Amino acid sequence: MWILIDAMKCIIVANWKMHPATYKEAVRLFGTSQDALGKAKDVSLVVAPPSLYLRQLKEVTRNKRVAFAVQNAHYEIVGAHTGEISMKQAKDSGAAYVIIGHAERRSAGETDSDVSKKTAAALAAGIIPIVCVGERSRGVGGEYFDAVREQLRTGLRDVASKAMSRLLIAYEPVWAIGATCSMSPRDMQEMAIFIHKTIVDMIGEGGMTVKILYGGSIEAENARAMLEDGGVQGLLVGRASEHGHEIMHLLGEIGQM
Ligand code: PGA
Repeated sequence: MWILIDAMKCIIVANWKMHPATYKEAVRLFGTSQDALGKAKDVSLVVAPPSLYLRQLKEVTRNKRVAFAVQNAHYEIVGAHTGEISMKQAKDSGAAYVIIGHAERRSAGETDSDVSKKTAAALAAGIIPIVCVGERSRGVGGEYFDAVREQLRTGLRDVASKAMSRLLIAYEPVWAIGATCSMSPRDMQEMAIFIHKTIVDMIGEGGMTVKILYGGSIEAENARAMLEDGGVQGLLVGRASEHGHEIMHLLGEIGQM
């Protein structure tokens, strides 16, 4: 099932990473997140828990605006890949989305070429790819645009033009992930224009419809400004999604938009 987010004000992806420590805590965090979503009208929440928890959490989902993502998956359908899960298995467990090319996976060796294979495999399996791009550091010369362009060109090279509107691009500058402050909405807006232009150069005008998320040190205090002024249609949230009170506060702020 494709989740229709066009009718929504925005999409919040809660990337729990390797948290929480037990399934019991995961149920509690998920319950709080669902309750908080009730107050944030027209917002859809995509929870990306450790994949071990996904199927059971899906069973206790009460809100139609909640969907699930896996944080990674392999591009092969089955095979001798110890420790991996496939896109098809992810979908079978209840995931509608998959995060691909997150900075923490890239630093563990994932390449743009892997991203390209995974993105194509996700679309073939009927899962929406959330493709992460972002420069490692930012100097004054603007080289970071080249880095992002290269990630997009290679990472999306196997995606057919007509499939492009189905995926989400998560721009996450590596220097802003797990940091003390996020990028400014103004800089994000400039990057969003650049990302759209790069995709338009690849596939034509249809590239303008690709949805962009921002990720990197988003919390209740800066979420709303980023959504209002950053040229993005959603947020990829790490730390602030891992604690009940913080996700509640964040969704509460967005609900007032
Ligand atoms: P952060 O993480 O919100 O803790 O900076 C974001 C991410 O890694 O996706």
